[in-house]
Amino acid sequence: MRTLIQNAEIVTASDQFRGDLLFQDDKILSVGSNLGDATRDQTIDANGKYLLPGGLDVHCHLEMPFMGSVSKDDFTSGGKCAIAGGTTTVVDFCIPSKGGTLAQALEIWDAKSKPKAMCDYSYHMCIVDWNEGIRKELDLAFERGITSFKIFTAYKGALMISDEEIFDLMLEVRQRGGLVTAHAVNGDVLNILAARFAAEGKLSPHYHPLCQPPVAEGEATGRVLELGKMADQPAYIVHMTCKEAVVELARARKRGWESYGEVCAQHLMLDADLYDLPDFEGAKYVMSPPLRKAHDREALWGALANGIIQVVGTDHCTFDFKGQKDMGKDDFRKIPNGLNGLQERMPVVWTYGVNQKRISLQRLVETCCTNPAKMFGLYPTKGSLLPGSDADLVLWDTKQGYTISAKTHQSACDTNVYEGTRVEVTAHTVFIRGQKVYEAGKFLVEPGFGQYQKRPAGRPMKVDYSSLGNQTVGV
Ligand code: URP
Ligand code: ZN
Ligand code: ZN
Repeated sequence: MRTLIQNAEIVTASDQFRGDLLFQDDKILSVGSNLGDATRDQTIDANGKYLLPGGLDVHCHLEMPFMGSVSKDDFTSGGKCAIAGGTTTVVDFCIPSKGGTLAQALEIWDAKSKPKAMCDYSYHMCIVDWNEGIRKELDLAFERGITSFKIFTAYKGALMISDEEIFDLMLEVRQRGGLVTAHAVNGDVLNILAARFAAEGKLSPHYHPLCQPPVAEGEATGRVLELGKMADQPAYIVHMTCKEAVVELARARKRGWESYGEVCAQHLMLDADLYDLPDFEGAKYVMSPPLRKAHDREALWGALANGIIQVVGTDHCTFDFKGQKDMGKDDFRKIPNGLNGLQERMPVVWTYGVNQKRISLQRLVETCCTNPAKMFGLYPTKGSLLPGSDADLVLWDTKQGYTISAKTHQSACDTNVYEGTRVEVTAHTVFIRGQKVYEAGKFLVEPGFGQYQKRPAGRPMKVDYSSLGNQTVGV
């Protein structure tokens, strides 16, 4: 079946023009400025809507057991958030239990994803133990097409591993060709500060960010990047939040180390003052690393614009205010860490990044669609509008905005951290592999439609910085 989308404002990572796109079954056939003569079975008039590749969110946690609870959105509600927000592929984190095997974790993750996935998906593998068994099991991960591994320098006693273990893992991944990603905050510093606040009876959400100051994030960021340099292994820092971390990444990149970074929409948008909201409302914003201050947001926007940071993610990991976040009512250390973003990421970055002239629309496509695919081995199948790419397409209505609210969002969570925020664009029609999955607020496929994406081994693809400015930290 051949479909022609006509009269669209087509936007890629490098281009923008009024034109047409032809796809056959699940693949794009051609993109151009006048395909009106093409043979086709159906024609869709985009009527000037913006046609972008489907987004990739390479940082989300669906139905994840964490801190004594399980994150609220699963592959169905989380997948609906993704699609309604213009994202067609998600990469979730497969997390083995302590003492467990990668094979066991994969079995659990497959059972959660396969029957429920609304959009396409893949996994990173978290390494929360390091021993001879896990070392051998890396081969299984690569066979399954999992080529990226997440380590934590924090969550001591739960997910954190030591520098020795991180370095050894990096050497193993280097031999096979993959990417090591890191949650980078100094976990020892964090635990000592948290214990000291607790001993003084300082237990409200206000103290959550004070346990992980920017310098503790900068230190761990620099350390992971140095370990990567010593192992000759590319490293990618997830959810960067502050100027101190950006400075470390800029330094590593300037030295030519293969180093990459991700920022999540909430760290571009929301302020640490939110932790001081009355009636425990600050708990809604508890995530790690925490929300920061205005000058950090400026550093992050700058780094996104000039190429120090390559990817926008979400770290979507939702917990209800009632029944989950309130587990930490008397002690902020027990508040499950995480918040939403899958549905909001692209509209928010478009409205507050592109429309406020912080980044171009091409840069939005690059950082929300194309680079995530390039970093994690999914390009050009995903994240682009090239002939042969999957027909993962989103028609965006730039004339219709909406106000974000937990009353209307797709998430199963009772809270939305962007409550009341106005966005100026709406994902109107979404195709995944050529199948229309969403139109004007209605889902047209059932859970289980989403397909697992195997990823080939290899180093991340180089990204082109020639059109961007100097990679300096501008604050
Ligand atoms: O607070 C967060 N970020 N929760 C999800 C787990 C993680 O650290 O990414
Ligand atoms: Zn993390
Ligand atoms: Zn995360």
